[in-house]
Amino acid sequence: MNPPPIPTARFVSTGTLPGPDEIRSLVEAAYLHIRGEAGGQVADYIPALAEADASAFGICVANIHGDAFMIGDAALPFSIQSVSKPFVFALVCDALGAAEAAAQLGVDATGLPFNSIMATELRADGTSNPMVNAGAIATTSLVPGIGAADRWQHVRQSLSRFAGRELECDERVFQSEAGTNQRNAGLAHLLRGHGRLYCDPDEAIEVYTRQCSLLVTARDLAFMGATLAGGGVHPLTGQQVVSATTCPRVLAVMATAGLYERSGSWLYDVGLPGKSGVSGGMLTIAPGKGAVATFSPPLDTAGNSVRGQLVMRFLSERLGLNLFASDSPAHR
Ligand code: DON
Repeated sequence: MNPPPIPTARFVSTGTLPGPDEIRSLVEAAYLHIRGEAGGQVADYIPALAEADASAFGICVANIHGDAFMIGDAALPFSIQSVSKPFVFALVCDALGAAEAAAQLGVDATGLPFNSIMATELRADGTSNPMVNAGAIATTSLVPGIGAADRWQHVRQSLSRFAGRELECDERVFQSEAGTNQRNAGLAHLLRGHGRLYCDPDEAIEVYTRQCSLLVTARDLAFMGATLAGGGVHPLTGQQVVSATTCPRVLAVMATAGLYERSGSWLYDVGLPGKSGVSGGMLTIAPGKGAVATFSPPLDTAGNSVRGQLVMRFLSERLGLNLFASDSPAHR
């Protein structure tokens, strides 16, 4: 007897955000509630970041239909830094396929700081995951293109499609980072030694450092996130930026490793994939619904925005986003 046909139904995360008035009032409540929080330190390893205004604070919620709810400094530009990592991984995952991307980069949490060298040494095959520096540099080395200029154009154009507008590199941030990124350069050479860097190390570092220097706003990040939340289609431009099958893979690595060694406690409290960056940007994605982006430069000791995390601890369940929250059928 022939086996029955394999069902082809797609399983997707569904549900809706609350209505616009409720979102607006919750975003405003989060902003007012958390604005006074004074914890954390602004990154000071380069002047361009050290000069950031510690009191700057913005929130933007974007849904997959293109509505945006903003408050505070949501239109203030800052360098995207590590929040670029999930988007560059999305390009590579799309180009290579999910299985090959996982085999070449790894997708397991390291439990170690974002710039850990030991993380690469602890695994026999030299892989980590695309959310920490080693795995992100390896990811950038797999971006399609010949030479740094070609790869960089591909990264910039693709991240611009995620944002729905042309993104530009902050040359001052790039030059400062390029003058101080010896640790990342060391990681790139170490990866090359393990056979886990897939282009010339200097080329990978140049493109990685440029991708981190792209200027975005919280609003841009929210729409970039909403694109990953909505099957890879930008809510406003309607462009299919990456395939729908790539999106859950990207969200999975964000959930397990997006906040580095704090990823477990983040998932425990917030129940959503997230990603932080050293300039104070933070992005949280609710599959099938939308994304929340925040900007606030003071960071905890793992490099995650203090106010950004508090905003999501405030909003996740109030907006009905926690992926692990459920209700008894008797209460529906
Ligand atoms: O690779 C670096 O050192 C930085 N340009 C980006 C790292 C980063 O954003 C870490 N995040 N919290």
